[in-house]
Parts: sequence; C-alpha cells; structure tokens
Amino acid sequence: MPEMKECVFVDAIRTPNARAHAEKGWLREKRPDDLLRILYKAMFERNPKIKPEDIECLFIGTANPSGMQNDIGRLAWLAEGLPFSVPSQTIQNQCPSGMCAVMDAARSIMTGEHDILLAGGVEDMNKVPMGANMDMPRDMLKYVKLEEIPMGATAEKVAEIYKVSVEDMTDFAIFSNAQAVKARDAGKFKNEIIPVPGKKEDGSEFLMEHDQWIRDKTNREQMLAMKSPFKEGGVVTAATSSPLTAGAALLLMMSREKADKLGYSYSYKYKFGSQAGCDPSVMGIGPIEAAKRLFKKTGLTPNDIGAYELNEAFASQSLVVIRELKIDNPKPPFKKVNTWGGAIALGHPLGESGARIIVTLLNRMKKDYPNEKYGMAFLCGGFGNANAVLIEKV
Ligand SMILES: CC(C)(COP(=O)(O)OP(=O)(O)OC[C@H]1O[C@@H](n2cnc3c(N)ncnc32)[C@H](O)[C@@H]1OP(=O)(O)O)[C@@H](O)C(=O)NCCC(=O)NCCS
Repeated sequence: MPEMKECVFVDAIRTPNARAHAEKGWLREKRPDDLLRILYKAMFERNPKIKPEDIECLFIGTANPSGMQNDIGRLAWLAEGLPFSVPSQTIQNQCPSGMCAVMDAARSIMTGEHDILLAGGVEDMNKVPMGANMDMPRDMLKYVKLEEIPMGATAEKVAEIYKVSVEDMTDFAIFSNAQAVKARDAGKFKNEIIPVPGKKEDGSEFLMEHDQWIRDKTNREQMLAMKSPFKEGGVVTAATSSPLTAGAALLLMMSREKADKLGYSYSYKYKFGSQAGCDPSVMGIGPIEAAKRLFKKTGLTPNDIGAYELNEAFASQSLVVIRELKIDNPKPPFKKVNTWGGAIALGHPLGESGARIIVTLLNRMKKDYPNEKYGMAFLCGGFGNANAVLIEKV
C-alpha cells in the first residue's frame, strides 16, 4: 500500500481576470472553457517534461456548474483535444470551489492515490451569472431569511454588526487598487499570468497581460459618495465590493518524489487545509473560524505566517477577518495581507478565486517573502462555507 507523501506545487498560473460584461469585458468573446483551455495548453508548454497523458486526474472548481460551466474541467479538456484517458472532477462549493479543488488534489497526492495532477478553478460571471439555475430548498427558509443571504446583504450585515465605517472600507479598496497597480507595474504578476488575446471596450484587439478591474487612479471623495446597490441607505458600494469577473487559474501539483524524479524544482508544498461553516447571513466572517481551526490543528499562531492571501469578497468582511484574527494592522497599509492587491482590484471570478489566491500566494512568497516558512490563503463563500490552506517552504 502507498505511504503518506508530500505534495509540492510545481507550477501555478492564471489568466488575467477580465470584467464579466457583455460589452465592456476584455475577454467577452471567450467562453469560460476557452480560458481553462488556454491554461491547459500553457501548462504543458511551460513544463515540457510532462505530457497530457501523464496527468492522473483534473480537479477543477466552479461555483456554478451549469450551462457553459457544466462539467467544465472535463469538457474543456476534451475541447482541447487532450487524451480521453485523463479523468476529472468538477467541484462546486461556491467561492471556495477552486480552493476545494486544490485541497482535494493535494490530499489525493498525500494519500498516495496520485502523483501528478492539475487543479484549479474557473468562472465567467457574465456567461453563467451568479445563482443562475439555482432552486433552493424552501425548508431552508425556516432557518435563514431569504433577504439576508444574497452576497451584498451579507456584506451590509457584517459592516453593521462589526461597525465597519464607510471610510475604512473605502481606504481598504484604495489600498487594494494601489497595491495591485504597484505589483503590476513592477512586473510581479509576470510569472503567474498567461497573456490572452482580448478586445478593449472600443473593439480594438490587444494582448491582455493584466487584470482589467485594477484602477490606476481612485478618488476617495467620489468613492465615499457612491450609493449601496444592496440596501437602501447601506454602506457597501461597487467600489468596496469585488466586481463581476471572468478568469481561470491552474496549478501543477506532484508528489515530491515524482517531482524529484522528473528533475523539477519547487519551493512550496501543501501543508494543511481546513474548512468552517458559519451563519449564511454573515458568510464573510467564515474565514475567521477556518483560520482558527487551522491554527488549532497545526499548533501555529498568526505570527508564524509570513504572508496571507485573503479573498476580498467585500471590504467589510475582509477588515473584520483581519481585525478579529489580528493578523495585520487594523487598517491599511498591511504588511502581510494582500500586498499585491486583492479581489476588489484584481477581480473575483467566484470558482476561480480560491485557486487564484494560492497561485498569487506562491508567487508573492517566492518574490517578496523568501525567508518565510508559511503562507496562508483563505476565503469565504456563499451560504456560509469557508476554507483555508497553509503552504510551507521546502
Ligand atoms: C457591486 C455590484 C452590484 C455592481 O455591479 P453593477 O452595478 O452591475 O456594476 P458593474 O460592476 O458593472 O460596475 C460598477 C460601476 O462602478 C464603478 N466603480 C467601481 N469601483 C469604483 C471606484 N473605486 N470609483 C469609481 N467608480 C467605481 C465601475 O467602474 C462601474 O462603472 P462603469 O461601468 O462606468 O465602469 C457587483 O459588482 C456585485 O454584485 N459585486 C459583488 C459580487 C459578489 O457578490 N461576489 C461574491 C462575493 S462572495
């Protein structure tokens, strides 16, 4: 029987994230499966020592596996003309879908079931809108209020309960954009982003090398004056929310012994993962418990973690997670959290983001925190699931 193994990250890539909009999205002419196919192809071009038939399974997350995203991991693979013999799992768990895919892949390598896998996530929130085709069980409404579970409503409730001010949320969003601009202009995303042919709003064609939503300039007064689309007199705005986005992320994961045998170098391994559930009406605070469980089981403390990637579903919930866990300053600037920007600036294609933050964490750790041993990626999800992943330098 196989022994327990270590799982290392050999490569980690993503498409640039585009606005999910029928007229304004730079990747509007691509389907979500096209985005995944671009990454499948790029992964084999970047890693010529492995062939498609060497992949033992695909684990792909998507938050809404219907329409173009139905069984998308497999169908994109088939559409690319890749071998029938490679099986796949398309995984759905709202926003943590892509992270669940990486966790499932890592665990199957660690138990010895597999040695070479691809795992990732994908979403196009225009082609497959959030909640499309969903038919919720009516009995659920005995326990949760329907009007309290849409994502924006949860962000408003978190802001109210934890008294997060509009000013602090605005400054959080400004920091996210400013850090993303700095990282982009310094070429920090170069190793992770696979450029994709796109179309600007005016129809001109170009090679899209960076995330579309990053705002080069933010105007604090203008942002403070924006109204909440979620609640009459509310405090959460488009500027302090993650935007509707399309994108894909993909990781090449191997058992350490297989990577060594093939002569691959690697810097980080998957160390541990945790999941937590919380009240769906405050789903954004889920990462607090996911992180606490991870700390408890591993014996680590927030001080042991060199860098965090926290998915910025909304500024309100991100600030509460940072403050409750005391993992960084209570307000920007942050030293450990999202120093290359987060989802408010980079975008949040639901099922992609859990994988994307691991991709960015791996690159950020290597470039900016080379001496740190541990990094954590974590995120909340609709209906109150949350996940956290710990990576360790090898
Ligand atoms: C907030 C939300 C409702 C806005 O959606 P929308 O009204 O359809 O608008 P869009 O996202 O297309 O655009 C919002 C507008 O605000 C603008 N905007 C965003 N941030 C801004 C800022 N900092 N300053 C000025 N304008 C800003 C955008 O540019 C856009 O205007 P444009 O079309 O002129 O460029 C939507 O983005 C949303 O639902 N976000 C949350 C998604 C979600 O729930 N994800 C899951 C989380 S768990």
